[in-house]
Amino acid sequence: MKKKVVILAGGYSKEREISLQTGKEVFKSIKKKYRATIIDPKGDLVQKLKKIKPHVVFNALHGRFGEDGYIQSILEKERIKYTHSGVRSSSIAIDKDLSKKIFNKHKILTPYSIKMKYSKLNKKKIQTDIKKKFKYPVVVKPINEGSSVGVYICNKQNIFKSLDKLKNYNEVLIEQYIPGKEIQVAIMGKRKLGAIELVPKRKFYDYKAKYNKNANTKHIMPANISKDNYEKAMNIALKAHKLLKCRGVTRSDFKFFNNKFYLLELNTQPGMTALSLVPEIARYKNISFFKLLLWIINDASINK
Ligand SMILES: Nc1ncnc2c1ncn2[C@@H]1O[C@H](COP(=O)(O)OP(=O)(O)O)[C@@H](O)[C@H]1O
Ligand SMILES: [Mg+2]
Repeated sequence: MKKKVVILAGGYSKEREISLQTGKEVFKSIKKKYRATIIDPKGDLVQKLKKIKPHVVFNALHGRFGEDGYIQSILEKERIKYTHSGVRSSSIAIDKDLSKKIFNKHKILTPYSIKMKYSKLNKKKIQTDIKKKFKYPVVVKPINEGSSVGVYICNKQNIFKSLDKLKNYNEVLIEQYIPGKEIQVAIMGKRKLGAIELVPKRKFYDYKAKYNKNANTKHIMPANISKDNYEKAMNIALKAHKLLKCRGVTRSDFKFFNNKFYLLELNTQPGMTALSLVPEIARYKNISFFKLLLWIINDASINK
């Protein structure tokens, strides 16, 4: 009898559309082997899970609620095996401020940043603080968003315009802009899978550059860096993955400048459509999309 797999896709975050796409593609690929169902988690999620009694939940959610430990804690409580990282790792990794503090403490280089509460009242102070601590351009971003949603590269003239767009977030990160190559590394369990380089035609690797085919972002697999640096990037990603006690597949996003890797973030729920980066990196290692998904499903567990 085929095992039952519930794919959680959709959810409440700004990355809902991407998650729905991931869910559909995961479903298409695994349905020959499993009795698969897609569930868009709403209020009655627990009831639905109790009814279906899946062997495994494939978490295809991104962003808040799906990637931040919340859904993971529900699945722990229900004692249902789920894919990817556990509650604690997820909740740390989604917080760009907290995870960067941990990375820095363990000698993983990240761009200098400060967390701040933005209110229109202290513009002058913000301006002088930034002048003291940063060199323009700087990047402003939400602390726990993904897919480049709310990420803005700013100079002195437009920083407040960008911060205004983030006024609904309680806190934001102001981060030193790092020029150079965009390198992303996939880790699969304890295995260093590979590093891909992205060359966006746009100003940076923003939402359109990530998901819009017409944006023509170039993917270079393997990344066009020296063998030593390639190994270095993979080692940092594995170190970060282990440091946060992540499970399953993760993807670490770097900027590579002046021969140094700056870790921007570690994603515990990386995009998993057939066209996403981790599947592309896996394919280079002769791991098909289907095989990758099987590995992820077999790796599902609780108490993590
Ligand atoms: N400090 C930075 N310097 C240069 N580019 C950055 C910086 N922070 C973010 N970016 C650009 O924005 C993209 C998204 O930022 P990231 O921190 O990875 O957030 P997200 O969770 O939205 O992917 C990066 O891939 C990169 O192109
Ligand atoms: Mg990123």
